[in-house]
Amino acid sequence: GGKGGKLVIGMSQCNLGEPWRVQMNADIAAAAKEHPEIELIFKDAQNDTLKQRAHVEELVAQKVDVLLVSPKEAQPLTEPVGKAFDAGIPVIVLDRAVLGERYTTFIGADNKKIGRAAGEWVKKVLGGKGKVVELKGLMTSTPGQDRSAGFREGIAGSEIEIAFEADMKWLEPEARKEMDSALARLSKIDLVYAHNDPGAHGAYLAARAAGREKEMKFVGIDALPHEGVSYVEQGILDATFQYPTGGREAVETALRIRKGEAVPKRITLGSRRFTKEDGKKGGEVIE
Ligand code: FRU
Repeated sequence: GGKGGKLVIGMSQCNLGEPWRVQMNADIAAAAKEHPEIELIFKDAQNDTLKQRAHVEELVAQKVDVLLVSPKEAQPLTEPVGKAFDAGIPVIVLDRAVLGERYTTFIGADNKKIGRAAGEWVKKVLGGKGKVVELKGLMTSTPGQDRSAGFREGIAGSEIEIAFEADMKWLEPEARKEMDSALARLSKIDLVYAHNDPGAHGAYLAARAAGREKEMKFVGIDALPHEGVSYVEQGILDATFQYPTGGREAVETALRIRKGEAVPKRITLGSRRFTKEDGKKGGEVIE
């Protein structure tokens, strides 16, 4: 690598079907634009794990100087990512982790803490009791696992019951379908905790179609200004928790690696709660 002073960064994105990932790529592109030596190669796996494995292998074969990867699923991406790292390519893993330690650095928010903060908020607004529907992100991805475990810690010791849970795979249409089942099964729902804002929005649409949206609260995660934060302003969601993309930090880290600086194994990004009372700037900070 390093031809003619250029810094070639290959980015393997697991999908661009969700606004949050479009934002991540935009953040990477905006940060790279400030450094004319950077050349970006973007790959979109269209939510197909096998395609993403192939993309990682292609970027390694192209001998990119730094590999960025936001993996769809932890286990299947571990091997190709580890091989890139073993081949001497610096690897920056973003948002969803791989297994083990064969990468240079991981950049992302602490999903366990975000889940716990969501659980604590829910415990407070429900007065310590009620029936909750949990719509999980893909449970073969680390944020889904952590957002679930953290939430359960947050509501621990209360009389809040997770009365229905399903894996909606991060997808709004899946969330809507699962919520239809929850609505059919439960005569009373106090709150829906969805692991991302598209999921929370899908649940809201299902509840509204059943004429039951006023019966319950809706909580999501991501808090993009034009998505979750706007849903809160419109009264569709009651809360959302920010999930920074790390795109800018990834580019800055790639530049540090190029300069020969040592980078930490993990760079943890902060989060923040957004509710109507918190306003546009957000409320409680989660570090
Ligand atoms: C987008 C997304 C986000 C979520 C993140 C978790 O694909 O589902 O909504 O916060 O991935 O990795």
